Amino acid sequence: MDKKFLNDFPILRSKMNGHPLAYLDNSATTQKPDIVVRSICGYYGGCNANPHRGVYELSVKATKVYEDARIKVAKFLNAKPQEIIFTKNATESLNLVAYSYGLNNLRGDDEILITIAEHHSNLVPWQRVAKATGAKLNYIYLTADGNLSEEEIDKKLTRRTKILAVTQISNVLGLVNDIKTLAAKAHEVGAVIVVDGAQSVPHIPVDVQNLDADFLAFSGHKMLSPMGIGVLYGKRKLLEEMPPFLSGGDMIEYVEEQTTTFAELPQKFEAGTQNVGGAAGLSAAIDYLQKVGFEEIERIERDLATFAIAELKKIPYVELYGCETENKIGIIPFNIKDVHPHDVATILDAEGLAIRAGHHCAQPLIKYLGQNSTCRASFYFYNTRQDVERLIEGIKKVRGIMHLN
Ligand code: ALA
Repeated sequence: MDKKFLNDFPILRSKMNGHPLAYLDNSATTQKPDIVVRSICGYYGGCNANPHRGVYELSVKATKVYEDARIKVAKFLNAKPQEIIFTKNATESLNLVAYSYGLNNLRGDDEILITIAEHHSNLVPWQRVAKATGAKLNYIYLTADGNLSEEEIDKKLTRRTKILAVTQISNVLGLVNDIKTLAAKAHEVGAVIVVDGAQSVPHIPVDVQNLDADFLAFSGHKMLSPMGIGVLYGKRKLLEEMPPFLSGGDMIEYVEEQTTTFAELPQKFEAGTQNVGGAAGLSAAIDYLQKVGFEEIERIERDLATFAIAELKKIPYVELYGCETENKIGIIPFNIKDVHPHDVATILDAEGLAIRAGHHCAQPLIKYLGQNSTCRASFYFYNTRQDVERLIEGIKKVRGIMHLN
């Protein structure tokens, strides 16, 4: 691990199976620096109370922690605080859009357009909305190198398309989609664009106004924050017109026996007691990431990906997917010929290497690639070339251990 970050992440100094941990499953979740852990402890140890509910000092403090975090996120994305809805994770954010916007705006002749590279969280909710409304769910397929082609987009995106839901970075292939162009094309045909930012917001600068995204979802835990805190950005006008997703405490204005009027944004979408400790952690994580700098984060990850791909290409029995392109950050899907990905991951685990194996919550994409599952190494800025070298060494041992050499 880079000495620069060594002191900040205690878990990355630990051992796994007697070897120094090389944590290469950052697309699944990232590790947390001390400063984030301290911010959560600081909240629970110093100012825990139910926000928005009490007039006493502690509750006011909790409200401030929560609302300051919202302001931080808004600035981070170049949005307004009312446009930032705290959720549990990107999945909940995407479900919010699907159920609140999708269910209420789609009819039988309409179409929802997604890509074959979507994570299940930007796919299954749209299947359900399509079923409930009678709308059709269409797919944009990928080119041989894994990218989206303009021709395919222009063919599938029509006046019937009401929602284009697309990931900014694929959690399997690491390919970066040009959201600004997609947003312009969606708006041209009168559709809204929903962006899954789960793999992009932690790794590249994201400015929702520059992208002209209508909705954008991400999870805190993939960017150094605790699990259980996520964000939905939505354009104010759209959010104002949408009905609440979940109902209950704190999202109301007046409740009568038979009727309710709802609170203003963003409370309208935040029913029940919220994750204030998580918001505090997310706020500290944003500070940390901005201190490292997104240019630096992107530079490190692209360097690791380029190095890893070059080394993996030298191994004849390694198959790579979506790696014949520059348009990629540090997510490397691969297979070792004749070895199941779960065996690969188990053998690497014995060497202290943590990678993911399986379908990565993107079964249609894995099938499209002609696979049942793959291995996946995914980097963050705290990974090093030494981690990659150890990955390559580990991979070279696998077939021998499986008695295949
Ligand atoms: N979405 C997470 C992943 O890609 C869980 O691993």
